[in-house]
Parts: sequence; C-alpha cells; structure tokens
Amino acid sequence: MQNFLKGIMKTITTVSELQKEICAAKAEGKTVGLVPTMGALHNGHISLVKRCVGENDVAVVSVFVNPTQFNDPNDLRNYPRNLDADVELLRQNDCSIVFAPSVEEMYPEPDTRTFDFGMLDKVMEGAFRPGHFNGVAQIVSKLFDIVKPHRAYFGEKDFQQLAIIREMVRQFSIPVEIVGCPIVRETDRLAMSSRNARLTPEQREIAPFIAQTLNNSLTFVPSKKVSEVIEWVTGKVNALPELRVEYFQIVDGNTLQPVTCWDETEYIVGCITVFCGDVRLIDNIRYK
Ligand code: PAF
Repeated sequence: MQNFLKGIMKTITTVSELQKEICAAKAEGKTVGLVPTMGALHNGHISLVKRCVGENDVAVVSVFVNPTQFNDPNDLRNYPRNLDADVELLRQNDCSIVFAPSVEEMYPEPDTRTFDFGMLDKVMEGAFRPGHFNGVAQIVSKLFDIVKPHRAYFGEKDFQQLAIIREMVRQFSIPVEIVGCPIVRETDRLAMSSRNARLTPEQREIAPFIAQTLNNSLTFVPSKKVSEVIEWVTGKVNALPELRVEYFQIVDGNTLQPVTCWDETEYIVGCITVFCGDVRLIDNIRYK
C-alpha cells in the first residue's frame, strides 16, 4: 500500500481516521505494530520504533501525554512536549503512522474504569504515585482497542509498567504480543528518559551516578545480603546532596514483591527512583 511505503508517513489526530487506515492495511493482510509514547522522543523510544518497523508491515507510534496517569499536576504541566521534532524523528525512522490525538479525542467523557492488578501495582511506583497505573491501563487499553495491534512495544526502563501491561493483557485476554525492549543508556550509563531534558547541565553531570551505583552493586551479589545491598545503594546515592532516593527495592521480577535473600527466586531486579532536583528519574538493574 502506498501509504506505508518507506518515508511516507501519515500524521493522524482522530480515532476514526486511524481506524480507517488500519482496517485498510489489515484487509491487505498487513501486520500492525504499536509503540505507545508520551512524546519527547529519544533514542530509547527510537529503539522501540526500529524494532516495531522491523517486525511489522505497519508501525503506528502514538504520541499522547496522558493526563490520567499523572497524580501530580505540576509533573503533567512540566512534562516535555515537542510534537514537531517527534514527527520529524519518526519520519526519519520509517514509522508508518503517528497518532497524535487531543485529550478530548482520547477522553470524550471521563474514563471511570478502575483496574485491579493485585499486588503488582501496590508497590514501588504504584505506592508512590497512587492512580498512576490505573491511568496507564486506561490509555493503553484504549490504544489496544483502537489499533488492535499484533504486537506492542514497551521499554524495560519502566519495569513495573511492563509487568502491569502484561498482566492487563492476560486478565482481559487481549490478543496482542507484548514485546519488552532493553533500556537504552547514554555513554555514561544514564538511562534515556524524556525527563532527562529537564535536568540542568550540573544535574545532568550527576544523574549517571544512579546507574553507575546500580552497576557497581552487581559485584556484591550474592556475597552481601539483600538488605546490605539496599543500604549500600541507597547510602551511596543519597550521599550526593543533589540526589534523593525515593525508593530502592530488590524484587522478584515476576511478582514485584520484595525478596529477602538471593536464592528466594530465579529472577531478581533492583528498582530505583531518585529525585535529581525536582526531576524524578527511574532505573533498574537485573541481579539474577
Ligand atoms: O511509558 C510511557 O511513556 C507511558 O506510560 C505510556 C505507556 C505511553 C502510556 O501513556
């Protein structure tokens, strides 16, 4: 189909037009991949887009700052937005369709649905950002409903989000393959994030210390106790006056529940959230 030839990208703002394009592509037997984003795109997003382009005939990237997942109005207000640059970057990376709807288009009426993810959303981000994952589930389920993608791509940086989306797909038997993609890091190891754009030059110098500390903590496993590693990482990061750890937890990678010893389970991940000034950064590391 001509629309989906390399370099010819459509920017669509309405659900009906998007559905028309996708129906036409599916009628021709094409596979559709979806990369949900909130824009302010960086190389982490682009790694998802490249994978999506490589594995599907049609790559749809949504750019939508979803208000229902922000529990802090300041965070929503300050979230970086740059649609023109995003569209250009997506064009250069062979995206087929950019879906950039308005808030009214996505929420013609308030979304009152509440999701229950058991213990998965009671910990970490779920505990510190009440309602956040309910908002994520609202928007991602809407996007899945509209696009009905064969595959959808999410970054492992948002480790808990990925686990919750997998759980949502399982609970509602949504016919989509969820593809988790590795964290993309700057050369100094800072995990790529749209929020990095808000760091001052001084904060940008210091922020990589978070990932470097996580990486150094690998050498203590399994000789130090889980509690000692938590204390060490938290202490090291908090020792810098510009950084403040909100939480650092070492959890079972499937259940997201804290572990107390290294042989408790086969899959163990350390998840951290740190304020660098007023910029909230998250990262994680796989221990096992
Ligand atoms: O990870 C994000 O950017 C957002 O939470 C998502 C998945 C696009 C939903 O708004």
